[in-house]
Amino acid sequence: MSVVAGERSRMSFKLKLLALQLSATVGLLLVLQFNELSQLQFQDLCACDSCVSENKGSLSGRLNRSVEPVLSWTTDLSEEAFSWWKSLQNERRDFRFFKKTVHKLFQIFPRRTELRKQNSGTCRTCAVVGNSVNLKGSHYGPLIDYQDVVMRMNIAKTNGYEEDVGTRTTYHVMYPESATDLHNSTHLVFFPFKIMDLEWLIKAFTTGFYGRSYAPIKTRIRANKDLVMVISPEFMKYSHEKWLEKKGVYPSTGFMTLIFALHVCDEIHVFGFGADSDGNWSHYFEELADKTLKTGGHPGNREYEIIQELAKEKTVKFYKGS
Ligand code: C5P
Repeated sequence: MSVVAGERSRMSFKLKLLALQLSATVGLLLVLQFNELSQLQFQDLCACDSCVSENKGSLSGRLNRSVEPVLSWTTDLSEEAFSWWKSLQNERRDFRFFKKTVHKLFQIFPRRTELRKQNSGTCRTCAVVGNSVNLKGSHYGPLIDYQDVVMRMNIAKTNGYEEDVGTRTTYHVMYPESATDLHNSTHLVFFPFKIMDLEWLIKAFTTGFYGRSYAPIKTRIRANKDLVMVISPEFMKYSHEKWLEKKGVYPSTGFMTLIFALHVCDEIHVFGFGADSDGNWSHYFEELADKTLKTGGHPGNREYEIIQELAKEKTVKFYKGS
């Protein structure tokens, strides 16, 4: 090889090496930028003074937002979660039947629900309103209505109680035996405790439900079917095991609604939780009929303690009423 040819081949090798180094650097830069972008996208940017997701208290360490609160078309429920759930109200039908029923559910109701806000950098405040008698005479109505989202449950009433409980309802939580008609703009958050509950939901919106349960049950419901979401058994199990440390048989609807709020809100204001002086879960809208009710089989004392602890570590604001 001549000297010139040798020089040329060395030059071309150097150029190739340079090109390789350049493309590697550009590649690295692109990867870094992508990582940064995706981190930004998944970061929970919250603009409240004190954000649920940023609280460092020991109880808030139980929060695991990767557990999806509601069932979606693509949910792949674990058999373990189903087994736990089926013991709640003595379900006898199997996992295959459950899945078939869920499949039917999504022929009618939204297949996916966006629970978290789309825009980061905002502060989504929520009022979680239990049904406690301690709301009577509380004058919390305006404070409840002031929050972006108002969550109520079961047969909660507002008509005639506006001064104490407010007027708005964004999410209304219920199960068949506690069902109530809703305004067209209210989301129905459905807690199923057995497969029949899912069947009820389908039929109450279509043909009418004529089965029986342990309590009287509505044949039909008036509500917006496009705003229905069904709580996942996995989420109930997580509420019971992680949050209640398996106390009691399973958590109350109110307690699970509070955990739901911890998953979808930035700032939480809790109202209407707490037994009366006899230890009963009496309501603000009616006289207690069963004086031996206590907390209806749920670990009410522990639930109340947890709410107090969450308030102490400033994860929620707790309003104890009158
Ligand atoms: O009685 P009901 O289940 O409709 O009330 C909704 C929720 O409010 C309960 O699941 C419970 O968590 C809470 N509650 C309470 N104290 C009461 C009544 C209800 O903490 N006196």
